[in-house]
Amino acid sequence: MEEFAGRTAIVTGAGSGMGKAFALRWGAEGMNVVIGDIQQDALDTTAAELSAAGVPVAALRTDVSKLADIEALADAAEERFGKIHLVNNNARRRGLPGRADLGGDRQGLGLDAVGQPHVGDLRASGRSCRG
Ligand SMILES: NC(=O)c1ccc[n+]([C@@H]2O[C@H](COP(=O)([O-])OP(=O)(O)OC[C@H]3O[C@@H](n4cnc5c(N)ncnc54)[C@H](O)[C@@H]3O)[C@@H](O)[C@H]2O)c1
Repeated sequence: MEEFAGRTAIVTGAGSGMGKAFALRWGAEGMNVVIGDIQQDALDTTAAELSAAGVPVAALRTDVSKLADIEALADAAEERFGKIHLVNNNARRRGLPGRADLGGDRQGLGLDAVGQPHVGDLRASGRSCRG
């Protein structure tokens, strides 16, 4: 669709499931796609599939529970493609709906408690815009 073509999407949890499906779909719509996931192998596989389909893609290992990782993903998107137009946060720990794999003391905390606010910060910082 014209309104998506040439614009840039960030997708977290893009190594599998909904995140991967969204990444491939945004690519099929003609978007630049910037993907993050905590699992490097799965991330690499999604990046390779996007590249093979001719989609401009940037991939960076990202733990959504870490604000620095989210910022680095946004930096990568802006450096490669300019504006960010769409952010999909799909990261979760398998088997626990809505939960990211946080590790250590933070294990089991929900995305709503940790990851989502960081992605929200990204939106609130004005990086994500519709221009
Ligand atoms: N699968 C469905 O049919 C469905 C339907 C509606 C909503 N959802 C929602 O979509 C979200 C994703 O579900 P899914 O089924 O695609 O899950 P999934 O387990 O297939 O994929 C989740 C991805 O998140 C990654 N991840 C885990 N912790 C992370 C972290 N800290 N940082 C970055 N990446 C991390 C995993 O490595 C994995 O690749 C969930 O919130 C789920 O509730 C899923």
